[in-house]
Amino acid sequence: MRKVTIVNLAEAKVQKQPITMVTAYDATMAKIADDAGVDTILVGDSLGMVIGGRDNTLEVTLEEVAYHCRAVRRGASRPFLVADMPFMTYQTSTDEAVRHAGYLVRRGRAEAVKLEGGESIVEQVAAIVAAGIPVVGHVGLTPQSVHAMGGFKVQGRHQAAADRVLLDARAVVEAGAFMVVLEGIPKELAARITHDLAVPTIGIGAGVGCDGQVLVCTDLLGMNPDFRPKFVRQFMQGYDLMRSAFESYVGAVRARSFPNDSESFSSPAAGERKAVGDKVTRLY
Ligand code: KIV
Repeated sequence: MRKVTIVNLAEAKVQKQPITMVTAYDATMAKIADDAGVDTILVGDSLGMVIGGRDNTLEVTLEEVAYHCRAVRRGASRPFLVADMPFMTYQTSTDEAVRHAGYLVRRGRAEAVKLEGGESIVEQVAAIVAAGIPVVGHVGLTPQSVHAMGGFKVQGRHQAAADRVLLDARAVVEAGAFMVVLEGIPKELAARITHDLAVPTIGIGAGVGCDGQVLVCTDLLGMNPDFRPKFVRQFMQGYDLMRSAFESYVGAVRARSFPNDSESFSSPAAGERKAVGDKVTRLY
């Protein structure tokens, strides 16, 4: 399969081919997503919750995103790679926004950065785009504004709020964003925005009328039994499968049935040293 570029993503909208995006935070998960044919990987600041066990995304740092992004790039070279700009790395000034976006491209090897917000961040979006870095917008439910929204709540349910989300989406696209994530908005509004914009929309909790969909990898793999919001489909019962694998391992170690002889190395018998050919490719 060919490397996915920004050009392919734009073409997908024109050709009405749904775009697939997942989050990933490490090389192992990224390789699986790549092998499965995912178009684009997002190193989301959701890593603060998924990897860090935090309650929200606000504490995530630029260095953390760059570290995980680099790991993802090592595991997956074909999908288009987007890195989230963490809270307060772009809101304060255009200079900081450009410098920090550049850091994610240089250190994280990202191909684009994602910023949350609408009209309030158009200068930052335009400056980053002018620096040659593609920008993905993110409107609707914007988790970095969790306190301003009074929680992780669906946005744009009423007419004035819906118009606000549409204007925000238009504003970031006019500033140069080449793609926009629509999160936590009614499906009718998402379809309207998707129809209105010339660039692809990627939905999460925004219904089927978007140009593509994104899910957090651990959600679609069903790895967190305590998190089952309406918009998530679990494509695997990951928690149950993984827990039972860990239980089998614990049982095998306690029963001394792991490791068995074929999983163990032997010392060469005296005089047989030349015949020893055990090849160890990865020994911790
Ligand atoms: O941080 C993230 O993973 C995201 C997606 C949920 C869109 O922003």
